[in-house]
Amino acid sequence: VGAAGAAGLALGAAGGAGVYAAVSGPESPASDATALTTVGATEAMFHGKHQAGITTPLQSRGHLIAFDLAPGAGRKEAAALLRRWSATAKALMAGEPSTDDTGIALDAGPSSLTVTFGFGHSFFGRTGLTARRPAQLDPLPAFSADALDPKRSEGDLWVQIGADDALVAFHALRALQKDAGAAAKVRWQMNGFNRSAGATARPMTARNLMGQVDGTGNPKPTDPDFDRRIFVPAGASGAQEWMAGGSYAVVRRIRMLLDDWEKLPLDRQEKVIGRRKSDGAPLTGGTETTELDLNKVGPDGKLVIPDNAHSRISAPEQNGGAAMLRRPFSFHDGIAPDGTPDAGLLFICWQADPLRGFVPVQRKLDRGDALSAFVRHEASGLFAVPGGAAEGEYVGQRLLE
Ligand code: HEM
Repeated sequence: VGAAGAAGLALGAAGGAGVYAAVSGPESPASDATALTTVGATEAMFHGKHQAGITTPLQSRGHLIAFDLAPGAGRKEAAALLRRWSATAKALMAGEPSTDDTGIALDAGPSSLTVTFGFGHSFFGRTGLTARRPAQLDPLPAFSADALDPKRSEGDLWVQIGADDALVAFHALRALQKDAGAAAKVRWQMNGFNRSAGATARPMTARNLMGQVDGTGNPKPTDPDFDRRIFVPAGASGAQEWMAGGSYAVVRRIRMLLDDWEKLPLDRQEKVIGRRKSDGAPLTGGTETTELDLNKVGPDGKLVIPDNAHSRISAPEQNGGAAMLRRPFSFHDGIAPDGTPDAGLLFICWQADPLRGFVPVQRKLDRGDALSAFVRHEASGLFAVPGGAAEGEYVGQRLLE
């Protein structure tokens, strides 16, 4: 059994080998599959310094769900809920049943299930904990191109579920929703997906619904400054003390205007990002992992990676070192009333401080990078995701007790 939650695994690379036995024939469908493949058997650890679901390799299924505390529910009810949620997450991530189990995930292994819990800005007022609300949770600035739906944004509590099996992910969603009981009600829910482990011949960086290789520039857990950029340090003081080992998640539902995008010829699509579509290599040459040469000029006298290319504008060296770990899911919610696909990216990025991650980068992109014409930010959330629970502890205990 591999530990998918272990820090150090490269994000973006599809985890696990796609082990699939030779099929015996259509007349005996039940005997087609192997007993429990690597994909099903992989388990992410619930206990640890950080919550699972941040450095865990991307899973093929995701559910994001935000709750608001019910009227009258306060700190005591919130603490009891986080205790119930933690017990459920721990059991399900180990492939064990939950209380009153629905049976949806029977027969499946843990399938890299992760459940990650966060607190929104409004949580602290409802629970009388405003003195312990970190400044990092201050609302994000408004961006000029925002078209945000408040009903699908923010929330007191946020849960991210990821798994490499659709039934395992849905099972966790139902169990956590039931655990909420009378203490909290669902504010919004979004469903996403990524490529399945084993779909490609070798582990590769994921592609998004525009067809681009997406995730190449992410900081790597092996980088010397990875922890400092992504996680709140141990020994944090003041309102952040309880956040040691935690991270801030910015969540944006970004609709892709795919009908417009798909009309662009390949060479123009590639200039929008500054990378080749086939393999994600910079337009200035090399392979996917070669550094961008931002100063290179082509025979036409123009910059090879244009001024407004998305990967130029978002590069850490263009943003005073601002960096974030992008760990998204794609979404497709059918066809919108205007006939266009309601599809895009559930953009989730992780950082120790949004003011040194998402905010400065989005400010620059918002001034009009080449990608902006093809995307629309439709919902937004910012959540404080505490460190992982120690053995015997529940997630958020250091805040709620
Ligand atoms: C890089 C796509 C939104 C920040 C990239 C790359 C692609 C891409 C294809 C190049 C490959 C890579 O390094 O991963 C998209 C799409 C978006 C989107 C399709 C919207 C649907 C955003 C947003 C932000 C962002 C909202 C942050 C505010 C970054 C960063 C990099 C990057 C930091 C890496 C730059 C580097 O390290 O050189 N994006 N992106 N992206 N993007 Fe985005």
